[in-house]
Amino acid sequence: MIMQVSNLRPFTVAACLIPLLWVIFDIAFDNLGPNQMQALHIRLGDWALRFLWITLAITPVQTVTKWRGMSEYRQLFGLYAFFYASLHVMAYLAVDHVFAWRIIGIDIIESSYIWFGLLAYIIVFSLGITSSKASKKLMGKSWKKLHRFIYTAAGAAMIHYFWQLKGNLAEPLFYLLIIVMLLGFRIVMWFKNKQLSQMMIPKGRIAIDTEPD
Ligand code: HEM
Repeated sequence: MIMQVSNLRPFTVAACLIPLLWVIFDIAFDNLGPNQMQALHIRLGDWALRFLWITLAITPVQTVTKWRGMSEYRQLFGLYAFFYASLHVMAYLAVDHVFAWRIIGIDIIESSYIWFGLLAYIIVFSLGITSSKASKKLMGKSWKKLHRFIYTAAGAAMIHYFWQLKGNLAEPLFYLLIIVMLLGFRIVMWFKNKQLSQMMIPKGRIAIDTEPD
């Protein structure tokens, strides 16, 4: 199935802003519930996580469906993960703590789950600022190595999520299941590619050995 999806890009860019508009709408109409700050923070964190998961799902979906032209969407969704994670962090700094740096410092030291959030954010930030084609060209092989850290970011974000959990386990377990499946898929593909390349080596050698002098 070969389909060109690049003409959907402007629509996708706009659609990814809907969660933000939805939050703004809820703020404007006082719809965030009794604990507005917490609700804002949680909603932005949830969307950062969702976009991270969507980014990670692109390669497996492309492999299974052979749907070409999706890789440019991986960068787009990754940038939205970075965008919503940045808003989540800004909400923590500006809305929750009004930039009271001493209190923020103490909170970060005392709340182990934030360490994992910070780790995830540092990675997502690094991937976001190096996501352009120019950076890819400039960084060469190290670009791929750096961008593999997206799995570390996903793991750290998952720990961050579970560690601060106050109640309902259903949603985080759902995200955990998805990331385990995506990671499982990557591992299976890695083994398959390794087996394939091992099968190719003896063939190459035989071809060289049987060459007439
Ligand atoms: C890529 C980075 C990050 C992602 C994907 C992320 C995602 C999340 C998610 C999904 C939640 C739980 C929301 C829920 O209960 O449904 C959460 C909660 C939280 N996050 Fe993050 N986070 C990230 C980085 C950070 C950073 C850097 C900080 C602080 C500096 C932070 C502070 C918090 C806090 C304080 C909560 C608890 C909110 C509450 O219940 O009051 N997060 N985050």
